Amino acid sequence: MSEPEFVPLPHRHDPGIPSEDAARAFYETMRMRRTIREFSDRPVPVETIRWLIQVAGSAPSGANKQPWRFVCVRDAKTKRQIRVAAEEEEQQFYQRRAGKEWLEDLQPLGTDASKPFLEDAPWLIVVFKLVKGDDGGNVYYVNESVGLACGFLLAAAHMAGLATLTHTPSPMGFLSRVLKRSENERPFLLIPVGYPAEEVQVPRAAMEKKPLEQIMIVE
Ligand SMILES: Cc1cc2nc3c(=O)[nH]c(=O)nc-3n(C[C@H](O)[C@H](O)[C@H](O)COP(=O)(O)O)c2cc1C
Repeated sequence: MSEPEFVPLPHRHDPGIPSEDAARAFYETMRMRRTIREFSDRPVPVETIRWLIQVAGSAPSGANKQPWRFVCVRDAKTKRQIRVAAEEEEQQFYQRRAGKEWLEDLQPLGTDASKPFLEDAPWLIVVFKLVKGDDGGNVYYVNESVGLACGFLLAAAHMAGLATLTHTPSPMGFLSRVLKRSENERPFLLIPVGYPAEEVQVPRAAMEKKPLEQIMIVE
């Protein structure tokens, strides 16, 4: 095995203000992010979507395997196919598969089996995780890695003035079929991206975040 090669850190990011101010400013921006379920038909250029994926692709990943693929759908016919298939699964989910507790947990969000946003949003970013590399090699910590990349993606969309919905139609196997993905790719998340509809409302419950004391422990 050859020796690893090292280079000097190419960039040192300096926000030019104390770290607590920079961190707070980022929080003030990020806390305005909300999942929305009603999208405007205002178009979003492909160039914007390319930058979002560049951000996602810059995320850390286990052994730098980058086990992700982002299929960006704008074609109306394909979006329709995805909506029809998703709604079929979601009917089953809401009628049978979700248990009582899950349905109770979803109640404050007001979601149901109807998914018009899958056609209304100008873009659907369908995130696949790679369970084997494209070269057939191993990948590591796939869920952690792809989850992080998706977090980057949501933050990037928010910073670009766009809104997202992190959607998990259950189960998601139909996405591999409709998008004709290969065997090493498994659906991970379906993320509609676009501008919020004019009169959009969000569930009050979604805005209630746990206080810092409850989620942070300093030792
Ligand atoms: C892994 C994951 C799966 C989710 N699945 C769905 C979903 O299938 N449908 C939906 O309407 N929202 C879904 N959501 C959105 C959550 O309901 C939402 O993030 C939560 O209510 C908090 O709201 P906020 O994103 O505005 O902070 C999902 C979120 C995550 C992180």
